[in-house]
Amino acid sequence: MTLDLIARPRRNRKSPVVRDFVRETWLAPQHFIYPLFIHDRPEDVAIRSMPGKFRLGHEGLLREVERSLALGIRAVVLFPAVDEAKKTSEGHEAYNAEGHIPRVLRDLKRRWPELTLVTDVALDPYSSDGHDGIVAPDGRILNDETIAVLCEQALAQARAGADIISPSDMMDGRVGAIRAALDGEGFTEVSILAYTAKYASAFYGPFREALDSAPKSGDKKTYQMDPGNVREALREVALDEEEGADMIMVKPALPYLDVIRAVREFTVLPVAAYQVSGEYAMLEAAAERGWLDRKKTVLESLTAIRRAGADVILTYYAPEAAAWLREG
Ligand code: PBG
Repeated sequence: MTLDLIARPRRNRKSPVVRDFVRETWLAPQHFIYPLFIHDRPEDVAIRSMPGKFRLGHEGLLREVERSLALGIRAVVLFPAVDEAKKTSEGHEAYNAEGHIPRVLRDLKRRWPELTLVTDVALDPYSSDGHDGIVAPDGRILNDETIAVLCEQALAQARAGADIISPSDMMDGRVGAIRAALDGEGFTEVSILAYTAKYASAFYGPFREALDSAPKSGDKKTYQMDPGNVREALREVALDEEEGADMIMVKPALPYLDVIRAVREFTVLPVAAYQVSGEYAMLEAAAERGWLDRKKTVLESLTAIRRAGADVILTYYAPEAAAWLREG
C-alpha cells in the first residue's frame, strides 16, 4: 500500500551523498581551541576526574602541541597550576614577566610562530583565596581593584606573545579596561575573546581539581551568572560589544545550547562556546563503562554546539575529535 504523500523528508536522507548535500552543520579542526593544563615541573601528572588529560610539564606540553598541530589544531589556551607558595591574595604572580605563562608563551611562539596562543585572564590560579578576583576581608570580591591586576596580567601575556586574551573572571568593565591597556602599549592587534556569559556552574569541578584552584571559601555566584538566566546573558553581550570584545563566549556549552542560540541571534560578533571539564568528565565516565560510544557522542555533542550557533569551540577533545574527523 502506498500513502498519498507529497512530502517525504526521508528522500533527503536516503544516501550519504544526499545527506551531505543537505547537511547544515560541519565540524572541522579549525573550529577548535585546545585547552591545556600546565605546571612548572618536569613531569606530567594525570588528572583524576579527566581521564586521558594531564597537568603537563614542559616536555609533555611540547609533545602535545606538536601532536595537535599535526592533527590540524591551530590554537591552544593555557591554564597554569601554580605552586601554593606563589599564591597571594592579590594574585601578584599573574603578571610576573618571568612567571610560568610568559616563559611558556615565548617558547611556543619561537618554536611554532603559526600556532595561535590564547591566554586566560583571571586571578584564580594565582589567588590564595581561589577566587577570580581580589577578596576583601568581609568576603566581597572587589571589582575595580581586581581589574587593575587583570590589566597587568593581560599586558604581561601580550608582551610574551599572546595572540588572543581571554578574560574569564566576570568582573564588570574588564573588557574595556583590558582593551585600553593593550592599546595603550601598542597591542592593537591582540584580540579579546570575552567570557561574556559564564555561568556559576558545577560543571567546572574537574577543572578546579586539575589546577587546585577551587575557592577556599564561598562560591562564585556574585560574579558568575545564575544558571537560570538568559536575558542577562544578552545584557553582558551588549556591554562586551561596547567595550570592544572581538569574540563572545558562552560557557558551559552543552547544558547551555539555548544561551548559545540566543547570543548568536543577538550579536554579529563571532561566538565561541566552551565544552567544559565536567562535560568531558561525563562523556568519559560513560564511555569508560561502555555505556556510550565515545567517538559518536563526542562528535554529536560538538556538532550540537556548532548547530546552536558557536563558531569556535574550546574543547578538551580537540585532538581526538580532529583525528576522528580525519578518519571520516
Ligand atoms: C577560571 C576558569 C574556570 C574555567 C575556565 N577558567 C573555572 C572557574 O571559573 O571556576 C573552567 C573550565 C572548565 O571547567 O573546563 N577563571
